[in-house]
Amino acid sequence: MAEGTAAAPLENGGGGDSGVGALERGVAPIKPQYLTTKEQFHQFLEAKGQEKPCRETELDIRGKLYLAPLTTCGNLPFRRICKRFGADVTCGEMAVCTNLLQGQMSEWALLKRHQCEDIFGVQLEGAFPDTMTKCAELLSRTVEVDFVDINVGCPIDLVYKKGGGCALMNRSTKFQQIVRGMNQVLDVPLTVKIRTGVQERVNLAHRLLPELRDWGVALVTLHGRSREQRYTKLADWQYIEECVKAASPMPLFGNGDILSFEDANRAMQTGVAGIMIARGALLKPWLFTEIKEQRHWDISSSERLDILRDFTNYGLEHWGSDTQGVEKTRRFLLEWLSFLCRYVPVGLLERLPQRINERPPYYLGRDYLETLMASQKAADWIRISEMLLGPVPPNFAFLPKHKANAYK
Ligand SMILES: Cc1cc2nc3c(=O)[nH]c(=O)nc-3n(C[C@H](O)[C@H](O)[C@H](O)COP(=O)(O)O)c2cc1C
Repeated sequence: MAEGTAAAPLENGGGGDSGVGALERGVAPIKPQYLTTKEQFHQFLEAKGQEKPCRETELDIRGKLYLAPLTTCGNLPFRRICKRFGADVTCGEMAVCTNLLQGQMSEWALLKRHQCEDIFGVQLEGAFPDTMTKCAELLSRTVEVDFVDINVGCPIDLVYKKGGGCALMNRSTKFQQIVRGMNQVLDVPLTVKIRTGVQERVNLAHRLLPELRDWGVALVTLHGRSREQRYTKLADWQYIEECVKAASPMPLFGNGDILSFEDANRAMQTGVAGIMIARGALLKPWLFTEIKEQRHWDISSSERLDILRDFTNYGLEHWGSDTQGVEKTRRFLLEWLSFLCRYVPVGLLERLPQRINERPPYYLGRDYLETLMASQKAADWIRISEMLLGPVPPNFAFLPKHKANAYK
C-alpha cells in the first residue's frame, strides 16, 4: 500500500464506524474556497425583506464530502463503507413519493439511517405539489433526518414523462409550489439536486438557481450534465463555476466525474461550497480518504476483498442472515461489483490519475484476485460473491440494473 503523508486531524472523525487504519491516523481537512456564512445568508434575507427563519432551514455542510444518492447501489451497507473511508454527508436512495404515501414497505426501507451517518438526508421524487407536500409532512412526523432533498435530476423516462425528476426544471410554477409547500411542513432544511438542463445545448440551471434560493431552498447540488447527455460526455465544470455566482449566497455543491483528489481539488477551485461523489465512490470507496489525505492509495486486492467482506457482513446485518437476506446481500454486492471492476490499481497505471471516462485496456493484475476483480464478466463477479457468501442457488443469473456501469 502506498502511504501518503498524513497531516492535521480529521475534521469530523471520519464517521462513527470502526475502522480503517488510514483514517485513524488523521487527515488534512479540505478547505472550502467559497464561504458563505450563516450571517451573510441572514443579511441577504433581511435585505430582501424576508425574516430570519426560526426553524433550521440552513444546512452547513460547506467543504464536506457528500456521497451521492445512488439508487440500488447506495444502500445502507454501502454507505457504512463510505462513512468509514471519510464520506461526511450521506443520503438515502431516491424514494418515490406516491409509493411512500401508499405505505410500500420497500420504499420506506430506503429512508433508514445507520447510526454512523451523522449528517444524513433522504431524497424524494414526485411531480405534484400536493403529494410531495403530504409526503414531506409524513416524513417530518416519522423519520429523523438532517435534510430532505428533491431529485430534480432524475433522467429516466418513467419519471420524466410524468413530469417529475428533470422535467421539473421546465415546470417552474409546479416546482415553486412543491418547494414552498414542502418547506412549509418540514422542520429540516430542504435541498434540491438538479442537472444543467434537459437538452444538451440549453442550459437552464443558472436561471433556476436564483429562483430556488428565493423560494427557500437551503442548498442545491448541480450535476454538470443535461438529461440528454446522460454519461456520454464529461461534466461541464466551467458551467458549474458560472452557476456558483448565480446561486450565491445559497451554497452550491458540484457533481460530476470526480475520481481522484486532483479532480476534487480542481472542482473546489470553481468556488463550489462542496462536492458530491457518485460513481467515484462505487469504483473506489476509499476515494474519500484519498481526497482528505491528498494522495493516491495503491490498495491491494486483499484489502479490497476485506472491504467486500465488511459489506457482506453489513448486508447480512441489514437484510438478514437467512436465505433471503443472503441472496439480497449477494444481489446488491453484484450490482456494486459491476462498478468496482472499472477501478484500475494505481500501481499498474502508466500515468496517474485514472479518469472516469477512459476505458482501460485488458490487463493482468498483480495477483489472481486483482485480475479477477478487473473482469467485466458477470460470471466472475458471481465467483467473487461465492468467496464471501457461498455458492449461488441453482439457475442463478445476474444482469446489472444501472446503465452507468458500462462505458458508452
Ligand atoms: C447507480 C447509480 C444510481 C444513481 N441513483 C441516483 C439517485 O437515486 N438519485 C440521484 O439524484 N442521482 C442518482 N444518480 C446520479 C448520481 O447521483 C450523480 O449525479 C451522477 O452519477 C454524476 O456523478 P458522478 O460523475 O460522480 O457519477 C445515480 C447514479 C448511479 C451511477
